Amino acid sequence: MKGDSRGLTTHGHHTEERAKRQSPGELNRAYYNEHASEYDDLVFTKSREHQRHHDLILSLMAVSGADEGPFMELGVGTGTLAAKVLHSFPSARYDGYDVSEGMLHQTGQKLHPFGDRVRLIQQDVTTDLPETRYQVILTANVIHHLTKKDKPGLFHRLYAMLQHGGCLIVSDMFEPDTEELAGVYEELERRDFQAQGLDMEQYEEEKRHGEHLGTSLTRYLRYLGWMRKAGFVNVDCVYKYLEAAIIYGQRPSG
Ligand SMILES: C[S@@+](CC[C@H](N)C(=O)[O-])C[C@H]1O[C@@H](n2cnc3c(N)ncnc32)[C@H](O)[C@@H]1O
Repeated sequence: MKGDSRGLTTHGHHTEERAKRQSPGELNRAYYNEHASEYDDLVFTKSREHQRHHDLILSLMAVSGADEGPFMELGVGTGTLAAKVLHSFPSARYDGYDVSEGMLHQTGQKLHPFGDRVRLIQQDVTTDLPETRYQVILTANVIHHLTKKDKPGLFHRLYAMLQHGGCLIVSDMFEPDTEELAGVYEELERRDFQAQGLDMEQYEEEKRHGEHLGTSLTRYLRYLGWMRKAGFVNVDCVYKYLEAAIIYGQRPSG
């Protein structure tokens, strides 16, 4: 889905009108509030690739020495990744941030069994974040929702919120180098989803309607550059498949 394959159904014209008046944070809040209860049933969230991202994130955390946290997730959504992390790191504390109270409501239900290990905070992540120092900061399918202006600064702010030796793991979707490549990726994704037996009618519907969230995809190399500039070391794209990639970096120890 060009623009936002993590989108849900929406009505393009009305959303475009709203986009002119609202900040991206407000737009995302309204959109995800409206569609929070459908999010876990999206073809994308049910796909093998989505699970694969989560598996890799958990492995990256483990090899990076993650243990008791605290961990933070930007744009925690409906809490699917959070639940897996809390399960894999049974003494860790987890702060989940999201601009949409509707999504946080879903998360609250999903993470209820983890009790007071979890804090959910409704906040636009482009505004001031707390001074807590985290062992790991995670974010999946969120930064592409921010404006091009807000993206570089975010990496500086996240760097300041990491403990020495801590790591940032960013899973996101990125702009392909050319239009032609975008077409190739789209076709490959369609074939992949079909081979997984996913509902292709629903997939096409999601594609048709998910393009209007004011999304601006960036090339993944820009993220690497911004992270290095912010001070991160061991920065790399550790995984890439079509438009999606996982980016990793550490704050130096000591
Ligand atoms: C595509 S969903 C991703 C949810 C989850 N991380 C996942 O991978 O399934 C994007 C999420 O980012 C949140 N979001 C978008 N812009 C945001 C912002 N400026 N501040 C905080 N959350 C934001 C939305 O409310 C939504 O929950």
